[in-house]
Amino acid sequence: MSEKLVIAPYQRHAILCTGKSCGEQVGLLKFFKKRIEEEGLAQGDTSVRVNRAGCLGVCAQGPIMVVYPEGVWYSDLDEAKMEQIIQGHLKGGEVQQALAFHAQA
Ligand code: FES
Repeated sequence: MSEKLVIAPYQRHAILCTGKSCGEQVGLLKFFKKRIEEEGLAQGDTSVRVNRAGCLGVCAQGPIMVVYPEGVWYSDLDEAKMEQIIQGHLKGGEVQQALAFHAQA
């Protein structure tokens, strides 16, 4: 019998596209992960789980990132906008509507 898989609890899941049409923004992913760590959002019940995707199926106005459980999609990201999302959404709990192009109702 295989061992039961366990992952640490988290509050939000942020998935950044690093695919070709989003400019393969590995540097932006590294910046985002570093800032999540620095802001104390990397561990614990209120933490943000960060992953990358090869394509999120939008392929325009990238880099694209989606954040769950809200189902908010952000576009055209750079470090300044990521910082706004970290402070306003991931820490402050307010979806950054000016940066978002879609949110689940
Ligand atoms: S390559 Fe980023 S959404 Fe398709």
